This record gives sequence, C-alpha cells and structure tokens, in this order.
Amino acid sequence: EANERESMYLVNEFAQTYFQKIMLKTDQGQAVGLSYFKERGFTNETIKEFNLGYCLDDWQAFTDEALKKGYQLEFLDKTGLTIVKVDKKFDRFKGRVMFPIHSMSGRVLGFGGRILKADKKAAKYLNSPESEVYHKGKVLYGIYHAKQAIAKEDNCYLVEGYTDVIQFYQTGIENVVASSGTALTPEQIRLINRLTNNITVLFDGDAAGIRASVRGIDLILEQGMNVRVCGFPEGEDPDSFAKQNTLEELTEYLEANAKDFIQFKASLLVKEAKNDPIRKAETIREIVNSISKIPDQIKREIYIQECSKIMAISEEVLFNTLAQLNKKET
Ligand code: CTP
Ligand code: MN
Ligand code: MN
Ligand code: MN
Ligand code: MN
Repeated sequence: EANERESMYLVNEFAQTYFQKIMLKTDQGQAVGLSYFKERGFTNETIKEFNLGYCLDDWQAFTDEALKKGYQLEFLDKTGLTIVKVDKKFDRFKGRVMFPIHSMSGRVLGFGGRILKADKKAAKYLNSPESEVYHKGKVLYGIYHAKQAIAKEDNCYLVEGYTDVIQFYQTGIENVVASSGTALTPEQIRLINRLTNNITVLFDGDAAGIRASVRGIDLILEQGMNVRVCGFPEGEDPDSFAKQNTLEELTEYLEANAKDFIQFKASLLVKEAKNDPIRKAETIREIVNSISKIPDQIKREIYIQECSKIMAISEEVLFNTLAQLNKKET
C-alpha cells in the first residue's frame, strides 16, 4: 500500500545518507570502506555520484541510530536493513561496503553490500530481500544515472555487476546498467526498451558468463530490440578492463569487438558442433529458434540469409525449420 511503500523509501534514503556519512566521516569508515573503493580506482566524485557507503562492523550501530532518529522498527524490518529476531536485532549489512540501488526516478529501492575480504563462508554480495519496494527482477542497477545517456546515445550497455556500471561511468561511458547477476527478465528489458531499441550485452571474460547470458538474449529479441554482444579477454570483466584503459581505448575496443547477436550465436554454435551432424542439426534448430523470436519479418529474412552463410546450410532448410517452429507455437 502507498503509505507503507513511502515509509520504506524514507528508511532506505536515511540508510543511504547514513552509510555515506559513516564512510566519509568516521575512522573505521575511511580506513576500511573508503580505502576499499579507492583501491578499486573510484574517485571521490564517483563515490558521491553513486552514493556509495559503508556499514560499520558492529551488530546494530545502524539500527540503533535509525530508531533514535524516529524510524520505526516495522520498516527497518520490511526493507531488510535490520534483521529482527525475538530477542535481538541486527544490521543485515554489517561490515560491508554499500551500493544503493535506485529506481528510474532516483528513489532508493534497496542495497547491495559487498564483503571486503574473500571469505568462503559468506556471500560476496548480499542484497536487500524482496519487498514491497524491491523486486530483484524488475530493477536495473544504474538506470537512474544512465537513462539520459541511453536516450542520447540510442544504445544501452548491459553488464553483470555493480562495479562494472560504476567503472564504465567513471571512464566516460554513462549508458550502462547491470542485471546484478540474475537471469535477465522481461521487466528489466522493458525498462531499457522505453529509452532505446538497441542493447549491447557485455559478457565477463569466462565461458560460464557467456553461456548464461546467451540464454537470456532471446527475451530481448522478443521485444523487437537489436542486440549486439561483446566479450572481454579471459579473466577480465567490464570493470577490470575499463580500469586499465582510457575512454578512447575502451570505445575502440567496444567498436571493434561488438558483434551482432545472431551472427555471434551462429558462429559460436558452428564452432561447438564441429563436424558432428547430429549436433549440427540441433544447432540449426537453436539458431532458428532465436530468429523466430524477432517480430519483424524483414529482419528475420535477412538473418536467415546471414546464418545460411555462416552455418553452410541452405536458406530453404532454414526457412522450412522456421515454418515448422511457427506451426508448433500456434
Ligand atoms: N552477485 C550477487 N551475489 C553474489 C555474487 C554476485 O548478487 N554472491 C551479483 C552482484 O550484483 C554482482 C554481479 O552479480 O555485481 C556479478 O557478479 P560477479 O561478476 O561475481 O561480481 P563483480 O560484479 O565482478 O564483483 P567484484 O568485482 O566486486 O568481485
Ligand atoms: Mn548524474
Ligand atoms: Mn561474473
Ligand atoms: Mn564480474
Ligand atoms: Mn568484477
């Protein structure tokens, strides 16, 4: 209900300001949180722009402060900022650096909190739980900062993580958002589709990342958008790559390496199938299945022609496969 949501936003906004103040104004905040972000190469300006912060390594310092300021435990609980047990309350994000997650209009929907040191027992990132205001599948990290640039550039870069967005933005590419590690959803794509028809999906430079992303991309085609994809060298992600390169180098890399998705997928599948006829047959069905998601008939025909060349198979066979798929669906 509207009042409840507003109360949750207010608690989140208090938390955002508090975590920021803790990081910039306390000894622990500076020594632990601020220096972490500095090591990652983020400037003071970037840290302020994205409202990054730090949650003290204390069981309930944040919760106590919020209650003292008059915020109700009910909403600290509902936003997930405080974990409420029968006899205890504690800060969910204890000892983590904080990434506030903003809506298209800049409200604070929730947080991602990163652990500082690698620890096998704890998740690297903790996120706010699902709530009235935070639906993981409906938000895109960075959309508030990126929306103007997405419209202006008429393209949106889609990356995996928080730091990928921030490092790109700082380097000078502002039209970038992250799915935050989850499988892409139709709602997330719709947010981008309101601003542009063009998406460039950037993969982390590992095979698992590519496989996972390729699966979600048919959803983008279904919304009639043009999709390009671009990988990074082994072991790099957009954050680490942008950190080592200037804006010019990064732009050049993207221009040289972004490929049309259907062409990319066709080449990838051909490589994987090698000379195995059965796998090649499966591969053809898989690529035609992606093409069948494209609403525009002219584009479908052009892609059939392209894939016929890439996969060394006649256009006729591809068109027949497409017709069969369409029959099954209706
Ligand atoms: N993620 C998550 N929980 C995890 C791991 C990842 O929610 N335990 C999400 C985060 O939004 C993260 C994204 O998935 O930003 C991508 O994951 P990954 O590539 O592993 O992390 P990076 O963003 O590269 O993080 P970092 O550079 O800080 O290690
Ligand atoms: Mn801005
Ligand atoms: Mn990854
Ligand atoms: Mn990554
Ligand atoms: Mn990373």
